[in-house]
Amino acid sequence: MINMNEPAAAPFSDLGRILVVIPTYNEAENIPLITARVRKAVPEADILVADDNSPDGTGAIADRLADEDSHLHVMHRLGKEGLGAAYIAGFQWALNEGYDVMVEMDADGSHKPEELPRLLDALRDADLVLGSRWVPGGKVVNWPKSREYLSRGGTLYTRLLTGLPIKDATGGYRAFRATTLERLNLDDIVSAGYVFQVDMAHRVLDAGMTVKEVPITFEERELGESKMSQKIVVEALWRVTVWGYHDRVDRFKERRALRRERKQLGKG
Ligand code: GDD
Ligand code: MN
Repeated sequence: MINMNEPAAAPFSDLGRILVVIPTYNEAENIPLITARVRKAVPEADILVADDNSPDGTGAIADRLADEDSHLHVMHRLGKEGLGAAYIAGFQWALNEGYDVMVEMDADGSHKPEELPRLLDALRDADLVLGSRWVPGGKVVNWPKSREYLSRGGTLYTRLLTGLPIKDATGGYRAFRATTLERLNLDDIVSAGYVFQVDMAHRVLDAGMTVKEVPITFEERELGESKMSQKIVVEALWRVTVWGYHDRVDRFKERRALRRERKQLGKG
């Protein structure tokens, strides 16, 4: 008998092997909930928890969960080095293990695992899919206005400076093809905080790859605390400013080269 409540068998098998990377720092209450939700939403996906030696014991809890589930893996890192560094380490592990799709997801439930099928579906004709709060259909629930302004302002500033054609440049719910990550030089990426997200999108677009945004509902966490800090904001501001400057210099050089070429042609 067919049980209509069961999800269809491996509906994303055409995409290959999928790994959801979840960076954690003090997410003891959240980690059992989020891993269970991911396993239920996309049963064929594996999970890698990349824990920065959380003082609250998140790593040990993840280990116990992994003992009972062969789809779950845990990476223990030495200390808090930022979400960007944890993702890079997770992606490198995933590439070595031969995964075909890498997903970024927060541990606190803000990124709903139940929406992951929509991101994966969009990845069928994109190199990178961004879960977006600021496209039609996307939204934010329970966020203080101050965070909303910071996020919208961050994307606006990024668009103005770098011309990045993206509505939500800082979001952290994403799906990459392994081939996309292979084309970037992961070792070069030093962005540590949330600006890591802008950095990745910028690199993928610079390499001429396809980025798609799909609407998501981002819901603020109920358990534990956000790691957002002034340091993270300052890093984002100066890095985006530097990229914006370099982008302008590059465009200037391109135009100058073009003008020279035209002149040469005119003479010849
Ligand atoms: N391993 C590791 N190391 N994990 C970290 C670190 C770190 O230094 N800092 C944060 N994390 C983990 C958290 O435990 C959580 O799972 C996830 O990264 C996101 O952290 P939050 O602290 O919950 O972020 P947020 O809700 O303030 O910000 C979210 O929205 C931003 C955009 O507005 C994140 O999705 C950001 O990536 C995003 O830029
Ligand atoms: Mn959060």
